[in-house]
Amino acid sequence: MVPADLDPTRVPVHVALVMDGNGRWAEQRGLKRTDGHAAGEEALFDTVEGALDLGIEWLTVYAFSTENWKRPPDEVRYLMGFNESILRRRRDELHERNVRMRFVGRRGWRVPKRLVRRMDESIELTRANTGMTFTIAFNYGGRAEIVDAVQAIVAEGVPADKITEATIRRHLYDPEMPDPDLMVRTSGEYRISNYLLWEIAYSELVFTEVLWPDFRREHLFDAVREYQQRTRRFGGLDAERDRKRRSRSG
Ligand code: IPE
Ligand code: IPE
Ligand code: MG
Repeated sequence: MVPADLDPTRVPVHVALVMDGNGRWAEQRGLKRTDGHAAGEEALFDTVEGALDLGIEWLTVYAFSTENWKRPPDEVRYLMGFNESILRRRRDELHERNVRMRFVGRRGWRVPKRLVRRMDESIELTRANTGMTFTIAFNYGGRAEIVDAVQAIVAEGVPADKITEATIRRHLYDPEMPDPDLMVRTSGEYRISNYLLWEIAYSELVFTEVLWPDFRREHLFDAVREYQQRTRRFGGLDAERDRKRRSRSG
């Protein structure tokens, strides 16, 4: 159930999540770091349900960064296998919920073929769905995304003076993805860690101390509540104040 105090007309269109704190969650319990990743699955699917309840149109989650290759090989191997198994086990249920699945990141670089195949199958299966778009940022880096966009633009032979912000936007991994309205990071880390650098220029940022495996839809609702208390200006003036000012002077 969506809390009655949330304004259904001011739900963010796109929420981006940094699912952080799995390792610390496990360490606190004397478990292996990989047990923390495993425990994150329930958090993720409860959050997806909450996003569907709220009517969020785009949900993007950070599952593996281009920098996460620096982790010990065992952990990296676990994460590859785990993500492959999540897609295999969960895609039908997402499909039934009318969710459209997409991926952003350097899929063709270092990611095991089996996992890439699973990604393609998930995209194919859910391509025509009209509910929420659920994007997994995998082997994703914001700087890598900009580099890849610039390379594509240069390869197309676009003249330098014809390159605009819209040109770059069109060459990002998913040109259809709107910029996130809200970015949420768990685990009390106050940084971006190379996530959606271009796209979050004007996103509202919410940080929570909750470790990712403990995150549930209620925490998403809390973040949306905080979002609804913010005033977005995009470099201009608060629309409401602007209207009052004008009616006073007019
Ligand atoms: C987030 O949890 C998951 C990934 C980065 C894959 P971490 O593994 O970063 O957990 P902490 O930050 O070490 O607690
Ligand atoms: C960001 O978390 C990446 C993901 C959640 C997949 P990290 O745990 O990798 O970020 P840092 O290293 O603390 O900045
Ligand atoms: Mg971390």
